[in-house]
Amino acid sequence: MTDSTSRSTTTVSEAGTPGIEPPALEVDHISAAYGPYRALFDVTFAVPARSITALLGSNGAGKSTVARVVSGLLPSTHGAIRLSGHDVTGRPAFKIARAGMAHVPEGRGIFANLTVEENLVMAFRQRAGRRQVPESLDRAYQAFPVLGERRKQAGGTLSGGQQRLLSLAKVLVVPPHLLVADELSLGLAPVVIEAVYRGLREINQAGTALLVVEQQVDRALDLATDAVILEHGTVAFAGPAHLALAAMEEVLASRGGRPPR
Ligand SMILES: Nc1ncnc2c1ncn2[C@@H]1O[C@H](COP(=O)(O)OP(=O)(O)O)[C@@H](O)[C@H]1O
Ligand SMILES: [Mg+2]
Repeated sequence: MTDSTSRSTTTVSEAGTPGIEPPALEVDHISAAYGPYRALFDVTFAVPARSITALLGSNGAGKSTVARVVSGLLPSTHGAIRLSGHDVTGRPAFKIARAGMAHVPEGRGIFANLTVEENLVMAFRQRAGRRQVPESLDRAYQAFPVLGERRKQAGGTLSGGQQRLLSLAKVLVVPPHLLVADELSLGLAPVVIEAVYRGLREINQAGTALLVVEQQVDRALDLATDAVILEHGTVAFAGPAHLALAAMEEVLASRGGRPPR
């Protein structure tokens, strides 16, 4: 892929004065649809710079759809998306990625037939250029030693947890302004989830804001400072994480459902 030079690349915000840094992400009255099926209705929330926001909600609530719209994989039918104050509405995914957003999609997000190292090299080359590759590999293996031990192994033969770690390691090279991680813990053993969440914390401490999509609330709220609860494609709650559990119970009670584990 060649880089057609900067016709309209987004300038990365220079946080002029600390304290008035614009939010890493603003989702502004977004609606979205799959063909005739409307999945999001007037969704509004923000992810403060360098913070961690949990995006919660039952299965089918629209969490992954938000992740797709934010990363440019699904166009919105209405509303605006801003990254660090810059309007990226309607931009193709690769431009949004270049503007500082990384998306770890639901599932794997890795190449099963390539080795761990080939997966990393490919991602690092794309995001940082060939010269950065060796140093980036060192950093990835330092952050996730298990990937170093298995660097010759095909991605598809890793355990579920190791595959998630690999998908996280791919974004480490150039710390993004915003990382959207969709259901990283899905189907993993608790001890593995622990490692994945440690990885998320490290990424956040390096300055990246996180939007953590989860169906399991407890762990996400433990990590997050802020929370958004989606219900049937609308925002049922947006506020501090410590108030989200009560809000979640209210949402579930009002629809007569049982809380997820
Ligand atoms: N590719 C698709 N085509 C049509 N409908 C979809 C598609 N993906 C998701 N949906 C529907 O959109 C709604 C929201 O889905 P999704 O965002 O995946 O929910 P969540 O991630 O919260 O489980 C659901 O009703 C789902 O069935
Ligand atoms: Mg989902």
